[in-house]
Amino acid sequence: MDKNDLIIRVAGEGGEGVISTGDLITQACARAGLEVYTFKTFPAEIKGGYAMYQSRASTEPLYNQGDTFDVLCAFNGQAYDLNRSRLLPGTAFVYDGPGGDFEPDVPPGVHAYPIPMTVAAKELGGIRVKNMIALGALSQLFNVPDLPLQEIITAKFAKKGPEVVEKNLTAFARGRELAAALPKTDPWKIGVPTKKSDSIVLSGNDAVGLGAIIAGLDFFAAYPITPATEIARYVARHLPKRGGTLIQAEDEIASISQVLGASFAGKKAMTATSGPGLALMGEMLGMSFMSETPSVVVNVQRGGPSTGLPTKHEQSDLFLSIFGSHGDCGRIVLSVEGVEDCIGLTVEAFNLAETYQCPVLLLSDGSLAFSTQTIPYPDPASYKLVSRKRWDGKKAYQRYAITDDFISPMADPGTPGGMHIATGLEHDQAGEPSYTAANHEAMQAKRFRKLDAVVKNFAPVEVDGEGESDLGIIAWGSTIGVVREAIARLRAEGVSVKGFYPKLMWPMPVEQYEAFGASCRKTVVAEVNFLGQLAHFIRAETNLRPESYTICGGLPFTPAMIVGKAKEMLK
Ligand code: COA
Repeated sequence: MDKNDLIIRVAGEGGEGVISTGDLITQACARAGLEVYTFKTFPAEIKGGYAMYQSRASTEPLYNQGDTFDVLCAFNGQAYDLNRSRLLPGTAFVYDGPGGDFEPDVPPGVHAYPIPMTVAAKELGGIRVKNMIALGALSQLFNVPDLPLQEIITAKFAKKGPEVVEKNLTAFARGRELAAALPKTDPWKIGVPTKKSDSIVLSGNDAVGLGAIIAGLDFFAAYPITPATEIARYVARHLPKRGGTLIQAEDEIASISQVLGASFAGKKAMTATSGPGLALMGEMLGMSFMSETPSVVVNVQRGGPSTGLPTKHEQSDLFLSIFGSHGDCGRIVLSVEGVEDCIGLTVEAFNLAETYQCPVLLLSDGSLAFSTQTIPYPDPASYKLVSRKRWDGKKAYQRYAITDDFISPMADPGTPGGMHIATGLEHDQAGEPSYTAANHEAMQAKRFRKLDAVVKNFAPVEVDGEGESDLGIIAWGSTIGVVREAIARLRAEGVSVKGFYPKLMWPMPVEQYEAFGASCRKTVVAEVNFLGQLAHFIRAETNLRPESYTICGGLPFTPAMIVGKAKEMLK
């Protein structure tokens, strides 16, 4: 029987090639035309520690990584121990044995497939190809498309030389043979898509890079930090081809300073970082707001505080993103739901930065950064691009002229008559330093009043459902995809439930929150942090008093958790 929605989890030790195995399964399924959604988690160490890659493939659209796996492939005893409680009757279990480092006591009702991965890899000349033995077995047992896999293996290892490719293909074939010799007792096979769609598979980080390129990125500076580095890697591959500049700066303070310099020079500029890097950028975010210099800062959130959990998922930088800086410092904060948003909202981040001449923070998270999803093939021409209001040279130039919409035209350096100072010191309309009470009050009002229009001009939220309902679930970031599926399940059981998904986190779309709250008997905010950060802002800024549902174990919610919480609240 084909299972239209199959989840395969590969787990083992960092360095054993777990991530490559999951990636190859995903690529093969995507190439075969299946929808995919993946989740991976790995240790902060380069070698050792628990690594896991979960690949969900379906003939239907997917919005999250699912509840739990249908198939577990364990490379070692630790992977088995950590996942044993989820080996429910009916699940399939592929493991390294005999000859692995553990002997499992397989729970009743589980379909077990021992594959001597270590032994077979050694027979073929090296433990390195253990993962390809496993991949071959998974391909044979669960119908992971064989031919694309061989092509993808060849492409993946081509840069390591023909000998490595050959060894891996041999190991893959051996894995298939070993599995074919076992009786298949479970009914599961990956589904076969009925229609071909015009789609691609991208990770959240790559999609942010693509969005920036589509938006017309000219300049990118960043300091490498997990889980944001892949954005820089993507931009490094594509920006130079279109004449742009990328700098790996010495730290995050330098990165954002360079971004502001490039933006002052009239260029569209961006940096990408994670929480610790954003914390360092606080001073220069103030500079961006004070000097009204557009900047785009991507923050791929990870577990904190401090160095925290560098490779783990968390949504805990909302406080930092909205208020991180000194003085009264404004900005716009957006948050992406999934890979498609990573393109569209990155373009939007540039448009907003250019329009409002301020810092725009785009929040992604660890789960989404590494997660790959199938999305419709993006059409760059379909995105509207906005450039800053530039000085027309007619009247004498005042860089910070107070206009009707509080947005002052900018003059690029070198524009005759457009010379001005962009300074972090308080200044008057001409840009000259000025510390009088009246001036500071007028200029702060100017800088904040221009942001009043953001909520009106940018579609800030999505409401899932109409009319009155018993429960309203509010979610942001990648938690939205989980809530979408939970709501579908609840509705299938007759529960009256609505969803509220803000993409504009700041300024807060207060009216939309309050209208949603008024239509729900109870409300809850689901988010992956300890303090309930969005719930805090909702209580502070709106008339809603939602319950806060938080977790912070380094992993995202599952749809089942949201369903359970909803039922508990409606009891
Ligand atoms: N034959 C040849 N090479 C193989 C192979 C095979 N059968 N299987 C995997 N490899 C290679 C991969 O190509 C990869 O090499 P590359 O780095 O040159 O691309 C390497 O072995 C690692 O394999 P991979 O499958 O990608 O990862 P893994 O499951 O073994 O886990 C990580 C290793 C990803 C956990 C670890 O290397 C890592 O990067 N940890 C995170 C570090 C970090 O970000 N720390 C935070 C600092 S703040």
